[in-house]
Amino acid sequence: MKAIIVNPPAKGFELRDVQIQEDGIKIRILENGICGTDREIVNGQLSTAAAPSGYNFMALGHEAIGEVMEDGGNFRRGDIIMPINRRGCGKCLNCLIGRPDFCETGEFVEAGIKGMHGFMREYIRDSPEFLVSVPSDIRDIAIMAQPLSDLEKSLEEILSVQGRLYWKCRDGTYGCRHALVVGTGAIGILFALLLRSRGFMVTISNRRETTPRETRIFQEAGISFFNSSRGYPEPGTGNAFDLVVEASGSDASILPSLLSLLKNNAVLGLFGFLRNGVANLSSTTLQNMVYKSISVVGLINGQKPHFEAALRDLVQWKHMWPGVIESMITRRTIQEVEQNRNILLNKQPDEIKMKIIW
Ligand code: NAP
Ligand code: BGC
Ligand code: ZN
Ligand code: ZN
Repeated sequence: MKAIIVNPPAKGFELRDVQIQEDGIKIRILENGICGTDREIVNGQLSTAAAPSGYNFMALGHEAIGEVMEDGGNFRRGDIIMPINRRGCGKCLNCLIGRPDFCETGEFVEAGIKGMHGFMREYIRDSPEFLVSVPSDIRDIAIMAQPLSDLEKSLEEILSVQGRLYWKCRDGTYGCRHALVVGTGAIGILFALLLRSRGFMVTISNRRETTPRETRIFQEAGISFFNSSRGYPEPGTGNAFDLVVEASGSDASILPSLLSLLKNNAVLGLFGFLRNGVANLSSTTLQNMVYKSISVVGLINGQKPHFEAALRDLVQWKHMWPGVIESMITRRTIQEVEQNRNILLNKQPDEIKMKIIW
């Protein structure tokens, strides 16, 4: 079968015929989403990327929608599914109870990223245990459910961290809480939408002005924007945040500015893989974190409950913000990727989320 393959840590990718041995029910891949991590792998920038043992290549891809080709478990031929991308180490308790997002050994595998073939190929075989059903009315936007699952897990974790105090507002909602999301990529925008849909006031930032597409999305969903190249808001209660989520994966040097924006009892969520730089944290900054009861939490990977939550949210958002998620997606065929390799190697101008149609 044809597959997009990589051989980390080498740069580049190939589209070629491969043989992969695996068990489970046969699934025809219909489309794949591209995320920042895929581009880091094809550009040789992700140090954790590794081919599965026994292979000198790895099929890329951890975001996919497929059609079930044979009955198995609760699935029937013709069902549309999404496979879960991280699988447990088989040893630690968290993995054994279906939560390899909190793997204790670090020996988990991730499709198309670390030690497991990914989903950018014509067919996969997989166990029904690792599949979730895609509702037919969101088939066009369902590819967003994998990245959104990472965010559902992240928000669950943030709320659990904030379970340390009474964090809801007087009316029992999160309407008085103000969140800042840094970065206007697919992750940043989905995080902002998720927080809006849970009632938070949301601001998003980038170090440039918004594109017309981004402006429309932010207007539609009631999200404010600021351009941080003109400086971050001055520290002070009027412009501080209860939650800041780093979703740009840019430079560690932005962290002191982000920490200075936090209110008492606030949370800094680290979601992006900050690529370069150094965060220079003074003793005053660190003392303030103590005085203000600040939490810093690493946020990674959604599992089955989060995929299911993501799919439910997409169903709701389709009605809540008509056209918004659709407007985030650029469709490309596999033939286009073959003819113009650059569209997989590099994010294109004005692109938010690209998907490849097989
Ligand atoms: P992306 O498409 O590259 O988006 C990054 C966004 O950040 C872009 O809008 C970029 O602007 C913006 N940006 C760059 N420098 C910035 C700065 N200094 N301040 C504010 N914004 C800045 O990536 P993505 O797919 O949305 O993913 C975001 C990050 O999350 C990546 O690091 C990715 O690897 C990571 N990630 C983590 C997980 C997890 O489970 N923790 C899961 C998925 C992804 P331009 O549009 O101008 O480039
Ligand atoms: C995926 C996550 C994964 C993370 C780390 C992201 O691109 O969406 O599910 O855990 O990379 O490899
Ligand atoms: Zn991803
Ligand atoms: Zn484990």
